[in-house]
Amino acid sequence: MEQNNDIHQFFIDVNRLTAATTQAPVKRPREFTCFSYDKYHNLRLDDSSLKWYYPPQAHELPANLSAGFDKFDKHDNSQDEHLDSLLTAIAHHEQQTGEAIDAKFVTWRGMMTKFMGSPYDEDGFEMNATLFQDCVFIEENWGFKAGREAEQQQQNGSWKGPVSQQQMQFWGYKFETLATIPRPWGETSREEIENRDGEVVNNKEQYCSVVRSEIGGKVLCLGGEVDAIWDCKPKTPGAKIDWVELKTSKVIQSGRDQFNFNRKLMKFWAQSFLLGVPRIIVGFRDRDGMLVNIEEYSTQKIDEQVRRESSSGKWTWRPWVCVNFASEVLDWIQQTIRADPQQTGVWRIRLQKKPKTIELFKVEEMGHGKILTEEFVNWRTRLAASNRSQEG
Ligand code: A3P
Ligand code: MG
Ligand code: MG
Repeated sequence: MEQNNDIHQFFIDVNRLTAATTQAPVKRPREFTCFSYDKYHNLRLDDSSLKWYYPPQAHELPANLSAGFDKFDKHDNSQDEHLDSLLTAIAHHEQQTGEAIDAKFVTWRGMMTKFMGSPYDEDGFEMNATLFQDCVFIEENWGFKAGREAEQQQQNGSWKGPVSQQQMQFWGYKFETLATIPRPWGETSREEIENRDGEVVNNKEQYCSVVRSEIGGKVLCLGGEVDAIWDCKPKTPGAKIDWVELKTSKVIQSGRDQFNFNRKLMKFWAQSFLLGVPRIIVGFRDRDGMLVNIEEYSTQKIDEQVRRESSSGKWTWRPWVCVNFASEVLDWIQQTIRADPQQTGVWRIRLQKKPKTIELFKVEEMGHGKILTEEFVNWRTRLAASNRSQEG
């Protein structure tokens, strides 16, 4: 069992991280491939689910974010999807270029967001990792996440608020439906734009960007959902893309609200920074789910803004703390996993809260668990063999 194995520990020293005067070098994320889930959540290796940003117009506000909750076409998230679609998209790209990507880490953007937020995290997390062809592949530990969600649901069972947690979750997707169109503005009819409120909200459909980025000299390949594009996708590979991240949040009416919002902005910032999303659009709603106004935030300037608004000094976060910590923890994970004589197996990565520590220990001695698909391993094994025979 897991406890029999050595547990490697990495202590998170927030004071030391905060005192740093430099930030680990980073390279702008560049999309090198993408994929979509269609409205049935079937994988498509194209950009067919891309959406364009087109906010609700002033005369449409306030808008009821609960409208259509009874018809919500909700994705069944009881299945662990591992890294499957990301690996399929990577292999597809590699089959076209004839070479393996140069990343030393492959994961969903959400996992990197968790690493970046660890110095400030209050919840804890669990992930699984495996080494394959000198690259560390990291997935969420689904069992842990599902357990936590079940716990929350139980607590919500006794929740006496006016609106259910499921409905509050719906508000985010409803906002996406009200703020996007399926084609560029010039190609979308006025009628279609005006009828968005009547559309069935569907969270099965997604566009995912797959980027190459560097943090502290380590090459990462990250996949993550992007909500919309501002204008159009440039044709030049690697060019900056004017992505938009959509969020909803409660209107700020008190110091407490401001504090909570600043905390959320750290997550919005990390999530957007990792995929190179320059703009975050926040739809502010009241406690009954009425969308009252919309604000734009620049990802690059968010931390300055938070510091200005937190003049009370109650709670602020520093971007370099997140970046430096992510870089250090990736170095440590890589070194620890590489040093394992077996060079195979599954590792658990866990954030412990007291004392705040990242723990790393082996949970399976051999293989890659379900982190890697058979197709991906076979593809890479064939590719490596063909490269060796060409060299020889
Ligand atoms: P908001 O966060 O805007 O309310 P994302 O912003 O990452 O694109 O996610 C879109 C919506 O999915 C969120 O809208 C929220 O409703 C839901 N969502 C995302 N992550 C979630 C999580 N960890 N738990 C519950 N709901 C989540
Ligand atoms: Mg999204
Ligand atoms: Mg969003």
